[in-house]
Amino acid sequence: MKQRFADRIAVVTGGGSGIGKAVVAQLIEEGATVYSLDVHEQQGIVSPQCIPVRIDIADVQAVKDWAVTLDRVDHLVNAAGVIRSRPIERITEEEWDTVFGVNTRGLFFVIQALAPLLTPQTGSVVNVSSVGAISAVNTDAADYHASKTAVLSITRSWARALAQSGIRVNSMLPGLTETPLLRGAYVSKGAGDGALEEQYAGVPLQRAATPEEISRSIVFMLSSDAAYMTGASMNVSGGAVIV
Ligand SMILES: NC(=O)c1ccc[n+]([C@@H]2O[C@H](COP(=O)([O-])OP(=O)(O)OC[C@H]3O[C@@H](n4cnc5c(N)ncnc54)[C@H](O)[C@@H]3O)[C@@H](O)[C@H]2O)c1
Repeated sequence: MKQRFADRIAVVTGGGSGIGKAVVAQLIEEGATVYSLDVHEQQGIVSPQCIPVRIDIADVQAVKDWAVTLDRVDHLVNAAGVIRSRPIERITEEEWDTVFGVNTRGLFFVIQALAPLLTPQTGSVVNVSSVGAISAVNTDAADYHASKTAVLSITRSWARALAQSGIRVNSMLPGLTETPLLRGAYVSKGAGDGALEEQYAGVPLQRAATPEEISRSIVFMLSSDAAYMTGASMNVSGGAVIV
């Protein structure tokens, strides 16, 4: 196993489940010490290199108060995200604000709070967007997709802002990935048994990604293997969106 992150300090939001949890595990395996941030109690990864932090990233003041307790951060992965699926006509203002509060506003202010701590020349950030940011994959989560398109813009702005310090900022656009978030979205729209499996069959590679497959691409962008990549977005969707 490569040790691309030996002695590095990483922060992963949404580290308690799915894609974020897979990123935490891989970074630890490659030598990093990881602050795993999640709004829920975390279970599963037991390691002296994993420091769970219970925090709601939509609470900007709480994030700022926590950030001042740190000395330095080498890598940041913004994987925390929320989705609800229902007809576009029924999306409420409250739901819109909740989705943007986490996926967009929360993500932006996590970067702002940690940017001064990022290590010049080797620091890097990956923001988890979605292929729904660049294609109307469905209309049942229009608020979610809009929040993820904003993540691409936020990525470009921070990439420019931090480039003079040699800090890189990129976006990952996963397609269907087998996680509790995806299952939950199908439950919330009342889709019957087998609906998700039907979606998987429609992907050109005919299956969903595992969280680990998405995590490996995120960790690649985070690492010095992607040293000349900034402001970019990587589509990892099994061919579901080909542009
Ligand atoms: N699963 C997919 O098919 C898919 C596809 C495209 C993009 N994504 C994106 O990937 C990211 C990870 O999603 P996942 O599928 O692993 O979901 P998940 O639900 O398994 O994990 C998301 C984690 O974020 C945490 N979280 C939610 N709100 C938070 C908040 N306010 N503060 C701190 N933590 C919070 C949750 O508690 C959860 O542990 C999300 O940004 C999601 O939008 C997922």
